[in-house]
Amino acid sequence: MSERWARGILREMEPSLIRRLAAALMMLKDVIVLAGGDPDFPTPSHIVEAAVKALKEGVTHYTPTQGIPQLREAIAAYYKKFGVEVDPEKEVIVTPGSQQALYLTLACTVEPGDEVLIPDPSYLVYVPTVRFLGGKPVRFALKAEGFHLDLEEIKARITDRSKILILCSPNNPTGTVFTEEELKGVAELAEEHDLLVISDEIYSEFVWDGRRYVSMASIPGMKERTVVVVSFSKTFAMTGWRLGYLIAPGGLVEQMLKIQGNMVLCPTAHVQVAGVAALTGPWEPIKKMAEEYNRRREYLVKRLNEIEGINCPKPEGAFYLFPDISEVSKSSVEFCEGLMKEKRVAIVPGSAFGPHGEGHVRIPLVKPIEVLEEAANRIEAYVKEHRA
Ligand SMILES: Cc1ncc(COP(=O)(O)O)c(C=O)c1O
Repeated sequence: MSERWARGILREMEPSLIRRLAAALMMLKDVIVLAGGDPDFPTPSHIVEAAVKALKEGVTHYTPTQGIPQLREAIAAYYKKFGVEVDPEKEVIVTPGSQQALYLTLACTVEPGDEVLIPDPSYLVYVPTVRFLGGKPVRFALKAEGFHLDLEEIKARITDRSKILILCSPNNPTGTVFTEEELKGVAELAEEHDLLVISDEIYSEFVWDGRRYVSMASIPGMKERTVVVVSFSKTFAMTGWRLGYLIAPGGLVEQMLKIQGNMVLCPTAHVQVAGVAALTGPWEPIKKMAEEYNRRREYLVKRLNEIEGINCPKPEGAFYLFPDISEVSKSSVEFCEGLMKEKRVAIVPGSAFGPHGEGHVRIPLVKPIEVLEEAANRIEAYVKEHRA
């Protein structure tokens, strides 16, 4: 019973749903797995070559905890594209994946009892992390229509214990890209209530239909109260490399660095060199990946909407579809379990992303169109058999 040594709060926690799903799926054959958001593309070859070259040249040692200066400079240069001026010496920390950047930020800011405002639905890591750190997650529902921000709803959730507000745009799982007006509304609230905003911007390269991506840190007055969390995982198809970063006000970065070295010492050396190659280009392979996601989006949205009982809005960004399946089943868990058991398609129930995600399922566009077509055929067969 070695678990008795684990903190009580951990013993009470459920293991991550996606990890549980992945473990169960490893055992099965003939399953179309559309569970995680892991791009099916290989990492572009110039990035791989940069890493191999670095290893061969002996880049095998510890680096500064904050990340190598060349990468921090490349990050600062990249964020200019969003109209954000970043000081690479004082305002960036390179991390092993953006998940660690998120954890670091929350671990350095959440005091017991602090309230953290979290969109519902949103990425399923935010709530348990806040809870684990002794904070109180407070979900605010996104609008039923399009899952955009409802400022009145956020206002109603703010108390004198509110300290942090998390946003993810484009949002996982809904694909919603929050408009500049919406972000300005949040900025006003953040200023009025002295909130720190954590802006998860890891899908910013994937926005569709001519939309312009707006970073929270580019909204006037917000850079000083925003931690931007970014990743190489999705943009460059580098999930397994573990490379991400945060951009934050210098004073907060200084505090975070007191503990980051104790947690990870430093990010992997040659992977950081690969990160420089990724950001400095060529960007042609990324453009191609984005075009392919868009092609898949166009295809699968149309195909799913042909199925009676399913309503699939076109996501504005990211590479997930979030169709409404409530005509088929009131429970998204039941829908996904049935689909898995009977038709061998693994997708994630919307309720995993928050109560407001109920009635939906999440389908990532991380497989070729032929596979998505087969998945849609199986979903159609399942829906026909189960629609009341
Ligand atoms: C919204 C969001 N944030 C953060 C992450 C973590 O990404 P990584 O740690 O690979 O950078 C993910 C992964 O799916 C995500 O969807």
